[in-house]
Amino acid sequence: MPVITCIEDLRRLAQARVPRMFYDYADAGSWTEGTYRANESDFHAIKLRQRVAVNLEQRSTATTMVGTPVTMPVALAPTGLTGMQHADGEMLAARAAEAFGVPFTLSTMSICSIEDVRAVTTQPFWFQLYVMKDRAFVEALIARAQAAGCGALVLTLDLQILGQRHKDLKNGLSAPPKPTLANLINLATKPRWCWHMLHTPRRQFGNIVGHAKGVSNLSSLSSWTAEQFDPALSWADVEWIKRRWGGKLILKGILDEEDARLAVNSGADALIVSNHGGRQLDGAESSIAVLPRIVQAVGRDIEVHMDGGIRSGQDVLKAWALGARGTYIGRAFLYGLGAMGQAGVTRCLEIIHKELDLTMAFCGHRQLVDVDERVLAHRGAATPQPA
Ligand code: GLV
Repeated sequence: MPVITCIEDLRRLAQARVPRMFYDYADAGSWTEGTYRANESDFHAIKLRQRVAVNLEQRSTATTMVGTPVTMPVALAPTGLTGMQHADGEMLAARAAEAFGVPFTLSTMSICSIEDVRAVTTQPFWFQLYVMKDRAFVEALIARAQAAGCGALVLTLDLQILGQRHKDLKNGLSAPPKPTLANLINLATKPRWCWHMLHTPRRQFGNIVGHAKGVSNLSSLSSWTAEQFDPALSWADVEWIKRRWGGKLILKGILDEEDARLAVNSGADALIVSNHGGRQLDGAESSIAVLPRIVQAVGRDIEVHMDGGIRSGQDVLKAWALGARGTYIGRAFLYGLGAMGQAGVTRCLEIIHKELDLTMAFCGHRQLVDVDERVLAHRGAATPQPA
């Protein structure tokens, strides 16, 4: 077993162990992947200020996200098909997150169902909702999330139509994989993945199969989205969902100041500055580049979170310094999951926590809640200039 010291180590191991179509599904952006790459590279452009001879005893990265106490402001993002990176992936990741003290967010397009995850956790997890044309099905999903005691509803606003990811089309992405010659040859090189997958009954979209009516191709994310997602989603629907849900509401996919103000007006508890990991509008700005403008536009009227490009605890500190009160990791935890199952997700969280703690200390702080943009070099011109 190689020594794992950073998220890139987990990525390489996942690439070796996960069937190509699912590895590629995670590690891809839409069209040219320019926004996907900018999410990471714009973080690198932000530099930190080192401070010395400051007491660094008794440090803490603890805070809250929408009122939930967290060990660090890092939630697991909702990611589709997580149970295809590793058998029972959502259940394993939820357990790792719970043990670490950070929120796990279950995607509507998960393999394990809301009820599966509820059965293996003791703390409330969060549920991410896509809005379908079939409002009765949406109501049923909300009711299932309520029955499972979910702590927050994360409503995704930037995927009513699906961005094109070339690799998914070329690989013929489906869950479970179709028994084509190319797939069988690739699966033959992934014995661990196959062994675990043969020992679980969960190999289809668990929130959908057996719950939604009249779906012609259940195995395909792209045809399901095209047929079922509601392209007419509006702020009036957000209001309807807020009323039906009645709990903490987080709006995901905000990338524009005007939309951020509309999010405030909706009465939601938080918004997530997000370009869906560069998987939707290629050519959009990176999340970290947009973050300071959104923070400025909304002030203290709503809690601002962000996702996109976080591969280290340093990235978390930079996002925090620019005003994010919470961040989400998607690919980083999927790499851990694909590499080593639950232990890999735990390793991912440990790596990010250690990097966050040490970086905070090098910048002269003991408490994350005391960190602000003064930890960034060239503050005042903190907005990264895209390359
Ligand atoms: C779905 O959320 C996706 O980005 O594939």
